[in-house]
Amino acid sequence: MARLKIAVLISGRGSNLQALIDACADPKFPAEIALVLANLPGASGLDRARAAGLATVAVDHRGFPDRESFEARMTEALEAAKVELVCLAGFMRLLTAGFVERWRDRLINIHPSLLPAYPGLDTHARALADGVRFAGCTVHFVRAEMDHGPIVVQAAVPVRPDDDAASLAARVLAEEHRCYPLALRLIAEGKVRIEDGRCRIEGAAAPGAVLINPQPR
Ligand code: GRF
Repeated sequence: MARLKIAVLISGRGSNLQALIDACADPKFPAEIALVLANLPGASGLDRARAAGLATVAVDHRGFPDRESFEARMTEALEAAKVELVCLAGFMRLLTAGFVERWRDRLINIHPSLLPAYPGLDTHARALADGVRFAGCTVHFVRAEMDHGPIVVQAAVPVRPDDDAASLAARVLAEEHRCYPLALRLIAEGKVRIEDGRCRIEGAAAPGAVLINPQPR
């Protein structure tokens, strides 16, 4: 079976990119990385891509007069690589509605919160300030509104009484690295349908366990 050709878009260290590289290294995995694109030539995630022998391109947004021309160059690179699904992984540029529509239902993102709670930046500090008992991450299809769109996969992690933003981020990040390959696999296997703004996942069951935090002594 042909593997789904994906691009991973990054701006930084690329630990989620690494999780996708590792998943795609299995020849039985239904997707392959056709291109890693960074908007910053110095993004250290590019080194991970090169180490894995992947095609890379840096499209430096600072070299373009506006978002449209920057995105047109990105789309050119994505099309040249015959990309079928674009995966944002720590890509720190806002995308125009035009780009999002161009890749509609073929553009996904990972976000470090249980969306629709905490869109935007500093999710962990904001969650701690609110005293929530669970945090998590979300893989979702991208819509024009930032950090919104049909949810594919989420993971919830407990917040501990002694957490700071860094410890909570690390706990969530470990789950991001499991959720992104899972979401990609489900999409590449054709198991995800978008209906009325929500994802229906064929053959998927919810876990049986309920989590309560704090735990009674
Ligand atoms: C992750 O927390 C991701 O959820 C967010 O940006 C961070 C990127 O980390 N969108 P990395 O570059 O994948 O390590």
